[in-house]
Amino acid sequence: MSSRKLFVGGNWKMNGDKESLGELIMTLNTASLNDETEVVCGAPSIYLDYVRSKLDQRIGVAAQNCYKVPKGAFTGEISPAMIKDCGIEWVILGHSERRHVFGESDELIGQKVAHCLESDLGVIACVGETLEEREAGTTEDVVFEQTKVIADNVKDWTRVVLAYEPVWAIGTGKTATPDQAQEVHEKLRGWLRANLSDAVADSVRIIYGGESAVFGNCKELAAQPDVDGFLVGGASLKPEFVDIINASS
Ligand code: PGA
Repeated sequence: MSSRKLFVGGNWKMNGDKESLGELIMTLNTASLNDETEVVCGAPSIYLDYVRSKLDQRIGVAAQNCYKVPKGAFTGEISPAMIKDCGIEWVILGHSERRHVFGESDELIGQKVAHCLESDLGVIACVGETLEEREAGTTEDVVFEQTKVIADNVKDWTRVVLAYEPVWAIGTGKTATPDQAQEVHEKLRGWLRANLSDAVADSVRIIYGGESAVFGNCKELAAQPDVDGFLVGGASLKPEFVDIINASS
């Protein structure tokens, strides 16, 4: 058993409204949750303040994105300073939808990681290959390169959770097997060991994201030695999110 505390993130993406999120928050607040597992919900930015004011303090809240400077003429963006001002502790960065739908580069994601950590926010940093990249046999190259740019911008790894989210398993119904997830997680941990230190490799949580977390195999996934929890999309909006949190113990 590793000493790493399990981490389960919910990524609500651009879903919900005050009514439906309020109901979900009630479900989470009244649920019996395993306190060995750290739980964080990623809310749409306009609802961050609302969610933080309603959600029980035992559950963390994350923004799903932010910009790389404290303030200025950047219409439509939010800064880590604003996120902190709303009492929020975490930010999800580099999600594949940010990379592929909004064209965020490794470089920009790295700059955001650096600024969020300097601003004393925790970072859930996402990496993952597309189906074409996996089929071309470049999974390792892709996730190592993405991880390197993140790592170049991290001074303090205690505030970082790494999320491996194969793009082909996000919202597609395609499932990565526990073996497939473990294989990449093990390689990522090996990369951290070879390029950073034993201490970082042993302590950083590497969580798995993708549809398979909801397909009844989260227990099996969490039992893999290098899988330290999940980043859950669609299912984190449903009451079964509670089962995923509790199944990972
Ligand atoms: P999914 O999304 O669980 O809906 O596949 C995961 C994610 O994008 O974080």
